[in-house]
Amino acid sequence: MKKDLIAIKDLTAPEIEDILTLTDRLKSDSASFNQALKGKTIALVFQKPSNRTRVSFEVGMYQLGGLALYLGPNEINLGVRESIHDVAKTLSRYVNGIVLRTFEHQNVLEMARHAGIPIINGLSDLLHPCQALADIYTVKEKLGSLKGRKLAYIGDGNNVCHSLLYACGKMGMDVGVASPKGYECNPSVVKEAKSFAKVSGSSVFMSSKPEEAAKDADVLYTDVWASMGQEKEAKKRAKVFKGFQVNKKLASLAKPHCLIMHCLPAHRGQEISDDAIDSKNSVVFDEAENRLHVQKAILIKLLGENK
Ligand code: CP
Ligand code: NVA
Repeated sequence: MKKDLIAIKDLTAPEIEDILTLTDRLKSDSASFNQALKGKTIALVFQKPSNRTRVSFEVGMYQLGGLALYLGPNEINLGVRESIHDVAKTLSRYVNGIVLRTFEHQNVLEMARHAGIPIINGLSDLLHPCQALADIYTVKEKLGSLKGRKLAYIGDGNNVCHSLLYACGKMGMDVGVASPKGYECNPSVVKEAKSFAKVSGSSVFMSSKPEEAAKDADVLYTDVWASMGQEKEAKKRAKVFKGFQVNKKLASLAKPHCLIMHCLPAHRGQEISDDAIDSKNSVVFDEAENRLHVQKAILIKLLGENK
């Protein structure tokens, strides 16, 4: 049966561990894997812009001996020029996997239902699993462990936050999320994350006070206040989210070694200050680099011969 990567909630903790272990090998010895996906091709079907996701998947496939084809909104006008069903069926005849970046999460599920090949969620309005896997890999790389660590997420209860909730819940990390009223996480995602946390022995709490979430955190994480597709709300959100900024002052409440993280792109001066993103605690570019290594592991797991 084909396997997809749609949500971290679909992975078991040992499967996540497996991805992180393979990522370590890929990062330290990339050359040994340069034929791992020889002759394989993936399509990147993107309805939204991208720097990190597009470049890391394209370069990743190249480094594994395969090929990635970028199909932006002008090529595949998903659901308009052609239905998701027909795109899924057609691409399944040409390529070995699809990375889909889209708006409604439902689109990813629909693509996966109709495709005969693995579908990787390259970001939907609900989730961003590749990001969260790279994030926890980065935390483990920098701090040596995940279990018992506390991640504080400050800002919009969005796709990135949801995937972090799943990842932390599965891996035994405590999470505190601080969002303004009306911009909290999806309640079903929080409920599921809490049930994972119960099994792994960690905790998940929601707050409206950044200071409460940041207290004694090992990781301080933030993301843009207005995500792709919410550009029209940006002005209003900038007002509502004032006070939900990761900066030096907030970081002083966290542990001294606290990692400052951001999936990028960052809006400096909004959700994160220069003195935080450029501080010695910031690992944002290591985090961005790790997208490449983690996604190569995901690609091998889903498309490789010995999956
Ligand atoms: N973090 C991330 O997914 O970046 P892009 O939107 O540039 O791909
Ligand atoms: N929440 C952001 C993440 C970008 C990587 C967005 O969806 O635009």
